[in-house]
Amino acid sequence: MSQSIHYSPSSLNHAYAAPEIVHQRQRTLDSINLSLGQSVLDVGCGTGFLTASMAELVGKSGAVCAIDKENDMVSATKDRCKSLTQVSSSTGDVTQLSFPDNHFDVVTCTQVLLYVEEVEKAINEMQRVLKPGGKLAILETDWRTTVMYSRYPETTETIYRAWDNTVPSPNLPVRLNKLMTDAGITDINIEAIPLVNTSFDPMNFSVSSLNWLSGNAYKKGAITKEESQKWREDLASLGDTGEYFFCVNRFLFVGVGE
Ligand SMILES: C[S@@+](CC[C@H](N)C(=O)[O-])C[C@H]1O[C@@H](n2cnc3c(N)ncnc32)[C@H](O)[C@@H]1O
Repeated sequence: MSQSIHYSPSSLNHAYAAPEIVHQRQRTLDSINLSLGQSVLDVGCGTGFLTASMAELVGKSGAVCAIDKENDMVSATKDRCKSLTQVSSSTGDVTQLSFPDNHFDVVTCTQVLLYVEEVEKAINEMQRVLKPGGKLAILETDWRTTVMYSRYPETTETIYRAWDNTVPSPNLPVRLNKLMTDAGITDINIEAIPLVNTSFDPMNFSVSSLNWLSGNAYKKGAITKEESQKWREDLASLGDTGEYFFCVNRFLFVGVGE
């Protein structure tokens, strides 16, 4: 049974400042190739990392609207973008966008749709507000593409199964091509972006994510506090001996609106 997830802006700020996520954001920016004066919608903006970078690229003659369903994320984006007058941030839901048809040159939605029950409705909405010929960029993770070393692989499996049961769409990348095509998006380019960590560093994306995932499994009653602690201590010890290895794939889909 899935449930609603609420991250704190500070945990998102920490996880998404990791160098491998900075690289992923740059891949997203390269794929949409923004120019001065364009209008952009960033759906599920979180704390506004991508919003701010896109605002720099479209300049003061452009416009970036950022929406998120959580008020604290909207406040964090407003704060990050306070000197960028081309940014407007508001609360909103991807399944019910409050913008007219054919309005934006580019729509971005990164790491959001796995939390959404009505994915088809969400993609239809993003297609609706996109100008004909505009670009839609969606980035998603399938956590089951994780390759990692642990001396407790059964605990790893339990932690990942608990995550699958927590979010509505844990396995979205394998379905996205068809979902976007059905919504009228054409010329879809798909790129895999592997996130690799070989050191146990709290600044790594994997270390904060694995803390989050094991904490989630504990909260859901899938593992005990002791199992969670033993599993995390094992990962830290693999770091000490140079054996830590983690890789997960993110998938970037970029297509054209009709
Ligand atoms: C993991 S964060 C990603 C933030 C940002 N897109 C990024 O890549 O840095 C997911 C965000 O999606 C937002 N979100 C989840 N469901 C949403 C929905 N139905 N409509 C709008 N935002 C949503 C959450 O509140 C959260 O801020």
